[in-house]
Amino acid sequence: MNRRPNYDNPTECRIRNKTLSVSLYTIPDNEIQAAAALLRAGETVAFPTETVYGLGADATNPRAVRKIFEIKGRPIYHPLIVHIAAASQLPVWTQKIPDAAWRLATAFWPGPLTLILQRSSQVPNEVTGGQDTVGLRVPDHPIATALLRAFGGGIAAPSANRFGQVSPTTAQHVHDKLGSKVSMLLDGGPCRIGVESTIVSLTDEEAVLLRPGGLSIEAIEDTLNKKILLAQAAAPKVRVSGMLDSHYAPTTPIEIHPTEKLWHRAHQLAKLGYKVAVLKLSDDNKCINSDEIKIFQMPLLANEYGRNFYATLHHIDHANFDRLLAEAPPTTHEWVALHDRMRRAAHSGALLK
Ligand code: TXA
Ligand code: MG
Repeated sequence: MNRRPNYDNPTECRIRNKTLSVSLYTIPDNEIQAAAALLRAGETVAFPTETVYGLGADATNPRAVRKIFEIKGRPIYHPLIVHIAAASQLPVWTQKIPDAAWRLATAFWPGPLTLILQRSSQVPNEVTGGQDTVGLRVPDHPIATALLRAFGGGIAAPSANRFGQVSPTTAQHVHDKLGSKVSMLLDGGPCRIGVESTIVSLTDEEAVLLRPGGLSIEAIEDTLNKKILLAQAAAPKVRVSGMLDSHYAPTTPIEIHPTEKLWHRAHQLAKLGYKVAVLKLSDDNKCINSDEIKIFQMPLLANEYGRNFYATLHHIDHANFDRLLAEAPPTTHEWVALHDRMRRAAHSGALLK
């Protein structure tokens, strides 16, 4: 039942629109129906969303949800996001829907926003990690939407990676890391956003940002017409695994440096015999490719950088570099989620302020 594209065989590639940097993939309806049937049977299905690939299971089936934790190697007390087809399903999953939730759902769903709300009795403890709240999101991807509609219920899905590792933004990443452990893998091509959803908790009076992500904080504040609190400022009552300092870590150690220190550090490491990958943003050409140093020129726009970031980390991990040096991105608001992921990916969380 596994759907494993053969990446070496171009005839297996789906419709690719070369004018966009994102591929447009379609999945035949019989495969979507097969995936929905597997979910109903308590199996796991990996599927694309606009942010990253998810590892899905029937959110009302505790045994199926436990399989996600086993496959990911994730501690069972870390809650999962329940993906739903439309905001109209909110009352099934939550008992209290504040006005702010309707406003944000109307403005941004389907899209890269997860809302944390009081859970309803329908949500098993396995999904919430025993907490009385639930994370909900309507993903903005045609394959995810088709799967949710065919299945008819909520799909609990974390990112489809091993716990603490880099999230997958292509089906190949999922295949490489989770392989045959997943019952079915739906290939939707590269993810359009490439960074996980923004998570906002609405369980208290004030909205609290738990994780910056694909939707900007400013867009949320504009819609709510007020500032939202940052998780560190609010007393954290919730556990968010993405908040762990070591989260999103590739196996190649990362350092983040301002432009002026980047090349000095690259050469220092190269002299020690290290094979160094450099994620370069600036257009200065002090440093050139050599046997020891390989430069990855990253996009200057934050959304394009985000789309490529995890894929670049996966690539570098495969290529056996000893160290990854990332040039610190600008500190403007559109880079907030990337700063957050870079800081967590760096083995020392203190390198980037
Ligand atoms: O973009 C995304 O959010 C992707 C795609 C697949 O939807 N999903 C994702 O899931 O990133 P995951 O499990 O890797 O990260 C979701 C985060 C976790 O850090 C989890 O702790 C938090 O959401 N979360 C889920 N339910 C929660 C809850 N009830 N309270 C607080 N945090 C919650
Ligand atoms: Mg994750």
